[in-house]
Amino acid sequence: MLKATQAGLDRILTLELVRVTERAAVAAARLRGRGDEKAADQVAVDAMRSELNRLPIRGTVVIGEGERDEAPMLYIGEEVGAGEGPEVDIALDPLEGTTICAKNLPNSLAVIAIAERGSLLYAPDVYMEKIAVGPGYPEGIVDLDAPAVENIEALAKAKGVPVSEITACILDRPRHARLIEEVRGTGAAIRLIGDGDVAGVIHTTDPDETGIDIYLGIGGAPEGVLAAAALRCIGGQMQGRLQLNTEEKVARAAKMGIADPNKVYRMDEMARGDVLFAATGVTDGNLLSGVKFGREQISTHTIVMRSSSQTVREIIARHQDLDKF
Ligand code: FBP
Repeated sequence: MLKATQAGLDRILTLELVRVTERAAVAAARLRGRGDEKAADQVAVDAMRSELNRLPIRGTVVIGEGERDEAPMLYIGEEVGAGEGPEVDIALDPLEGTTICAKNLPNSLAVIAIAERGSLLYAPDVYMEKIAVGPGYPEGIVDLDAPAVENIEALAKAKGVPVSEITACILDRPRHARLIEEVRGTGAAIRLIGDGDVAGVIHTTDPDETGIDIYLGIGGAPEGVLAAAALRCIGGQMQGRLQLNTEEKVARAAKMGIADPNKVYRMDEMARGDVLFAATGVTDGNLLSGVKFGREQISTHTIVMRSSSQTVREIIARHQDLDKF
């Protein structure tokens, strides 16, 4: 039987997770480029939920599709799993980047993270200000409260390159106008993305492949926790601060146990202990290929990893049993 032991979660679960994101990704990929975000999200949710309910876990969704009254499935607090096995917390996004999937643009993913009960930040569905860099830099090289110019210069120095060789990934939103100006003022380049900041953060872990050194800016808090879980496994540094800018949001966060609305969360405060993370590409991206539909098989590309061993696996699967999907 699978257990949550002192050494962490049973490693068999790592591979079991792959099926969960594969199923969601294939379902969403069938609706790529159809201009219908909601439909693509719904099929991904249904597929992820049915596969999740086969896993030998007693899971609670802590980062999900929304609160119970706004999400019919995979809502925060929903119990999932086959009902036996370890008690775990689950953060998930069956279709991260609904708009990019609907437009068939790069980097939409099906994503899940699992951790021991009580190990993930119970973040409300608000915005989070984030900063992230990949592995190999001294601890504290970047700081959410430092001006962008300082962070970019420190990173360039540590990487041993001129600032002009640094690329920052930022969501293309009017709220980032000042940040974009500041970063461009340093001489660094910016990769502006339309959506999908879980991928944006993960891309900092392999700058040679993705061309991205640092992630900056404000995106969703749930996506922040998922990205922190990924970085715990693959290495890197990340900080996040919830954007609790109304009394209603402060009160909602307080109900979820957040006492200090201005707290800066380190990566290991957003995802503690042993964490498992899996993501399958829905559309083609810098790190993961999207789902490919052949005449006789479907191919998927998944990254799956575990924090306690820091093992990162990439799994390209060819599925012959097309009826399953
Ligand atoms: P969805 O998958 O829910 O559409 O989220 C996409 C996304 O781009 C996230 O990656 C990001 O964190 C968030 O939306 C940003 O929110 P907004 O679009 O409101 O700026």
